[in-house]
Amino acid sequence: MLQPTNETRERLLEIDNLKVHFPIRAGLFNRVVGHVKAVDGVSFHINAGETLGLVGESGCGKSTTTRALLRVNPPTEGTINYRQADGAVVDLAKANQEQMIPIYRDMRAVFQDPQASLNPRMRVIDIIGEVLKVNHLVSAADLESRVAELLQKVGLRPEAMGRFPHAFSGGERQRISIARALAPNPRFVIADEAVSALDVSVRAQIINLLQDLQSELGLTYLFVSHDLSVVRHICDRVAVMYVGRIVEMAPVDSLFERPRHPYTEALLSAVPVANPAVKGRSRRIRLPGDVADPANVPSGCPFHPRCRFATDRCKTELPQLQPTASPGHQTACHYADSLELRGAFDLQ
Ligand SMILES: Nc1ncnc2c1ncn2[C@@H]1O[C@H](COP(=O)(O)OP(=O)(O)OP(=O)(O)O)[C@@H](O)[C@H]1O
Ligand code: SF4
Ligand SMILES: [Mg+2]
Repeated sequence: MLQPTNETRERLLEIDNLKVHFPIRAGLFNRVVGHVKAVDGVSFHINAGETLGLVGESGCGKSTTTRALLRVNPPTEGTINYRQADGAVVDLAKANQEQMIPIYRDMRAVFQDPQASLNPRMRVIDIIGEVLKVNHLVSAADLESRVAELLQKVGLRPEAMGRFPHAFSGGERQRISIARALAPNPRFVIADEAVSALDVSVRAQIINLLQDLQSELGLTYLFVSHDLSVVRHICDRVAVMYVGRIVEMAPVDSLFERPRHPYTEALLSAVPVANPAVKGRSRRIRLPGDVADPANVPSGCPFHPRCRFATDRCKTELPQLQPTASPGHQTACHYADSLELRGAFDLQ
């Protein structure tokens, strides 16, 4: 069967100029003296059925972006157009509580720490059943069989429903979180560092599970991670964030093979390469200085204090995200077309 390409797929989500600024208050009168610009003008879309990766160093604004979609952190500015199953588009940045009710069924989240997100005093049947009951999705008589079905879907035995979260391993607890996320038959799942806390072998199992569920249920994922090896494995496209902005966005192969932003190049240089020729040689580009403070973003290109290619122009002029010669590949660097950058698999 002919599969739809990324270009022909329907857009599920379209974010334009999203900003989330947190006020900084100080002094006797608690005056606003500045803002943490955690997300500062982010635009991207996600096609139905694809996995978009969101990557970047700690504090770059990945979780704040996801929390803006979930309306945990209300957006300061921008639009978040979400296409519902019936085709109607809702701007989540302006939606009221009532409009958000069906969205919260359709758009679900899985977080890093299942230990913290699963109530230790509730049995699994109640943890998953609660979502079904609150949304009136199942009768009392059918509750047990629906929970059993969800547990089986995530690779757990139905008997698990009688136990408390502490009786499970970290990987099993994450399976329970995924079952709870899937309970209202969502179309869109936000996975924020969902596999980061797991051991390597368990991580691989959960990633395989997420992929299987995607093909079985036609899910769309926003996959937030700082582990680029995992991102390469699971994502169709990747957006790279730096201090509240997207600095590069591309199909996964294009990004890994030919990055166009020096920050992406540095992130990729830390990805382990399974090639004996590289063994013992350091490919890693160590960036000078720390990640910029989102309360005091550097002028011009926010990456300029750490960039080995920076010029005077970079200190004053903010580069916008622009298309490059590669299809679907955008970057925010004044010199994107002329820089010779190393991909994840280049040896030197
Ligand atoms: N409620 C808040 N008030 C003030 N600042 C905040 C708030 N929430 C987040 N921030 C700041 O916004 C910036 C982005 O945080 P965020 O949690 O989005 O980063 P992240 O990319 O998810 O990082 P990590 O990889 O560590 O999870 C950080 O500097 C953080 O301290
Ligand atoms: S615009 Fe300048 S400072 Fe920014 S990434 Fe490009 S070369 Fe480096
Ligand atoms: Mg985070």
